[in-house]
Amino acid sequence: MKILPMVRGRRRSAQVAVACAAVVLAAAACSSGSSSGSAGSSGSSSPAAGGSSAASSAGGSATSGSVTWWASPITTSQPDPRVVLIDAFEKAYPGIKVNLQSAPTDTDTNRASLITTISGGASSPDVFMGDVIWPAQFGKAGLAVPLSQYLPASYWAAFAPGLVQGATYNGQVYGSPLFEDQGFLYYRKDLLAKEHLAVPATWPELEADAVKIKAAGLVKYGYVWQGASYEGLTCNFMEFLGSAGGSVLNSGMTSSTLSSPAGVQAASFMRSLITSGASPAAVTTFQEGQAMSAFASGQAAFLRNWDYGWSYSQTKSSPSAVVGEVGVSPLPSFAGQPSPGTSNIGGWNLYINPHSKNIAADLTFIKWMAGMDAQTILATQFSEIPTTTAVRDSAAVKAKNPVLAIVGQTRLIPRPAGTAAYAKVSQAIYTNINSMLSGAASPGSALSAASSQINSAVSSSGL
Ligand code: GLC
Repeated sequence: MKILPMVRGRRRSAQVAVACAAVVLAAAACSSGSSSGSAGSSGSSSPAAGGSSAASSAGGSATSGSVTWWASPITTSQPDPRVVLIDAFEKAYPGIKVNLQSAPTDTDTNRASLITTISGGASSPDVFMGDVIWPAQFGKAGLAVPLSQYLPASYWAAFAPGLVQGATYNGQVYGSPLFEDQGFLYYRKDLLAKEHLAVPATWPELEADAVKIKAAGLVKYGYVWQGASYEGLTCNFMEFLGSAGGSVLNSGMTSSTLSSPAGVQAASFMRSLITSGASPAAVTTFQEGQAMSAFASGQAAFLRNWDYGWSYSQTKSSPSAVVGEVGVSPLPSFAGQPSPGTSNIGGWNLYINPHSKNIAADLTFIKWMAGMDAQTILATQFSEIPTTTAVRDSAAVKAKNPVLAIVGQTRLIPRPAGTAAYAKVSQAIYTNINSMLSGAASPGSALSAASSQINSAVSSSGL
């Protein structure tokens, strides 16, 4: 996906304004390369939240004001989900105006920009769409409002099990779950049929099928996924690792468990995808956008991607050349391990900037986003997994979302994001696995380098 400098598909009625200054700021923060984020050291001022006397009146009943919402594109196919959501919200609350600030698509760059902005004391953005892996880091550094001080237990009870726990740090809930992501396998039904192949149930089967379909001259690439040196590679690695039965950290989150037979199996298999020709060497530079485009343009037989991969591939204007030719299934596993393989849990929450001057309107916006209308829009128009049980379980919604229809079959693996040092843990994984993928390090040495970096990250308290 590309960084969008301006909002796309803007409709006159939407009253959506993009604050270009923030985009410029984001780009500048991004080029400074501080992906590990070190804003805590700049002395982030303590949040106004929690102790604020506004708390009692700010439970989400405000009907006027304005909210600047920082959000990356949820998908790049049209219409823009953010604009659709804002339009619907402003219809429900005509007295509240929402300004959209388009955030970087790369979660690491997005996070680094926000940390710079919020720790510098800026009151804008008011609300930000942030990754599910951020609560510990943002909570610890005072970079997000503890929402549980404003919203009652009944609010949190509406979400699917596990999501609120994932948004909790030190007893406070920092993020209101907006949509859940899980990793899925997308495949070309027509190509599998041509080669008389079943949907692969194991990773080695997928590798062999990808090589076969490619050798038959039906596609340029067999299997495309996210192998660039960034957070998305950690997600892909977690899936191979979980399928092999491995883990990243011990249960106390105090030391690395990566250097294990399962770790070696996962890493060696990832490298073999490239050496066998099942995946192109260029996969080491692919984020979601490049992998998605390769598949949607008809160049690849298999794709690993999140939920939105369905709506993107089925929307002609995305552009997609494979409308009607795609199937989706849980990810494969390794022989001798439970099936299906593990899907990484991703997704995005809504958080409030502790310096926001519009907390009452922010809460109205956040609450609406967890309601029936917004959750149904996300699930039925953009094939996202809704976060509230009511929408997730709705037969009418499932009928319109083939991804949601198979969510009951996936086997989930979370990233070890409960530690505030998670960003560094992940960086240790994706930098070392990326260099292993390109052949610069063996699986064993990449895992041991990652392990020692992880051990020093979890033993230090920095961001
Ligand atoms: C998706 C997931 C998010 C993950 C990111 C990695 O946006 O929802 O959790 O960190 O991909 O690229």
